Amino acid sequence: MEKARIRFLPDDITVEAEVGQLLLDVALEAGIFIPAACGGSGACGQCKVRVAEGSVEILQIEKIRAEARAEGYVLACQSRLTGDVVVEIPKAKLGRKVIPRDEAQRMRATAKPMESPVIPEINPMTIRVLMEPPVPTPEDNLSDYERVLRTLKTDHDVFPVTASLDVLRDLPQNVRKENWTVTACFELEDVPCPDRDAKIYRLGRMAPGHLHEPATALAVDIGTTSLWGELVDIDAGTVLARASRYNPQISMGDDVISRIVFALKKDGLEKLQRHVVRGLNEIIDELLQKTGMSRESIGYLVAAGNTVMTHLLLALYPKFLREAPYVPAAQYVGSVPAVSLGLNLLPHAFVKVFPGVASYVGGDIVSGVLANGMWDSDEMTLFIDIGTNGEIVAGKRDLMMTASCSAGPAFEGGGLEYGMRAAPGAIESILIDPETYEPMIKTIESKPAMGICGSGIINVISQMLTIGILNQNAKYNENVSTDRIRAGRSGREYIISRAEENALNQDIVLTEVDLDNILRAKAAMFSGYTCLLDKIGVDVHSLDRVIIAGAFGSFINLDYAVTIGLLPDIPREKFSFIGNSSLKGARLAVLDRKLFEKSREIARAMTNVELSEDPSYMDNFMAALFLPHTRAELFPSVRLG
Ligand code: FES
Repeated sequence: MEKARIRFLPDDITVEAEVGQLLLDVALEAGIFIPAACGGSGACGQCKVRVAEGSVEILQIEKIRAEARAEGYVLACQSRLTGDVVVEIPKAKLGRKVIPRDEAQRMRATAKPMESPVIPEINPMTIRVLMEPPVPTPEDNLSDYERVLRTLKTDHDVFPVTASLDVLRDLPQNVRKENWTVTACFELEDVPCPDRDAKIYRLGRMAPGHLHEPATALAVDIGTTSLWGELVDIDAGTVLARASRYNPQISMGDDVISRIVFALKKDGLEKLQRHVVRGLNEIIDELLQKTGMSRESIGYLVAAGNTVMTHLLLALYPKFLREAPYVPAAQYVGSVPAVSLGLNLLPHAFVKVFPGVASYVGGDIVSGVLANGMWDSDEMTLFIDIGTNGEIVAGKRDLMMTASCSAGPAFEGGGLEYGMRAAPGAIESILIDPETYEPMIKTIESKPAMGICGSGIINVISQMLTIGILNQNAKYNENVSTDRIRAGRSGREYIISRAEENALNQDIVLTEVDLDNILRAKAAMFSGYTCLLDKIGVDVHSLDRVIIAGAFGSFINLDYAVTIGLLPDIPREKFSFIGNSSLKGARLAVLDRKLFEKSREIARAMTNVELSEDPSYMDNFMAALFLPHTRAELFPSVRLG
């Protein structure tokens, strides 16, 4: 990547950035405040700066008058770097408070992105065999099915084969439609066998002629808040398209407990099952529309979800998941016909669901562990999935302990007045001017703001704490005077985006009730991993690495997360961010069925710890209800103003 040097005046701060980056992003990362109220969409016209030396690529000019343009004024959110440049911020007065340089540097400390270290072989769960059984004659009058079986065995070494009655019913027409040229589509099942690779071939479909369209499959993450899906070309090993939706079950409860409660009402389980399938069907439609692939091309779907989501997808009775001793109906169910779940796929398509570990540590975590590779590593690892529930895994090869911390969905934006998931229009980055308390906001895809997502929430709380807007009990400081803080319906609130500057036409605020939710969520996470590491007998300083997964807008800012006491205060280079690890694991399993089998071993190898039965969990939780923590010595790098 080509680099450029950007000198900001009047503060005279020079930073390096990549050619192609937007000026507003560069300023935000460098801790240089430029008024920016519309999230970078180009609508508010506030982020005007003057290019004093050098030039930039301008994306949009509407908000700048011609005379100002002639003087070199541009919108920082609409200007891409093409090389070295000197930029003057007109509204900044010399001598004002600026973010200290070391603090600005810390702002850039994001967890390094992590790709899965697991390399799949192209070893999908289905295969196609193009075959040409001989035409029946008086001398060779075997039945159609036996004829097909004979050709498969002798010409293609494919045996043993099983077939459903549905396939047999259509077989006579299908083999004759293209004069006995036919493509047989199989689901493969590996059979453990000591001396050879044995398989069973389940005949799912007999397609007349030669199928030229690529074979595809779906990788799906069923989150409590969001559904994600990918359409994968299983021969080329490539992702063709990706789509996501809110989980439509949200209208029946924000979290897993309220979903279970709803499931126990009359017709509740059926309704929940129908809703999640509706969401998945919409995702499938979108993926097909984006790629132009046909529905027939999809041979299977691999789903990873928490145990409650898995139960609800399969319509398994979930009552006992929430009653001691917390027993699931089943941890693994094998292959399920997709149509039997209501999925809008063809009869040959089947569904495989990742196995879970316990009632509150499900297939999404197993899939995440598969993707992050800790099952095959000697590095002592802490894996934290900051999703709706907050699951953690600690350990390494041969020793993995796991727990769920009931953190709630606050870091996915759930339960907050203006919280939203990381989607276009979500405020993901904020810089608060330490003098005026005005926020500079950046939204995902620079769309007009619609709410705030996890990374934005961590970002804003940490800064409010650092500059004194917020006290360590997560209450607004009464001595701070700004019209951004006012009394609202749920206590005092800070206005992040004013009604006239966002897509909602109402003020986007962070209330003290929101702050309390976040405080509890972070205390639950902290307490959870502290207890788990205690059980393994290591402390945070003995960790080789921390892998973070979750639905954050972009990479999580480590210092902000440490400042609020969410992540341990250890060297930042030990952190990496893997994104949606559940989806990544599902993709691996789609491509390589041996990895799906590996996930079953991983699930069996993980030891679940019930935190609710551990007295130290509550002690740790209470101690963590403070920013960053009641024991300041646990967070030595955090300096509050
Ligand atoms: S116009 Fe650039 S942030 Fe609004």
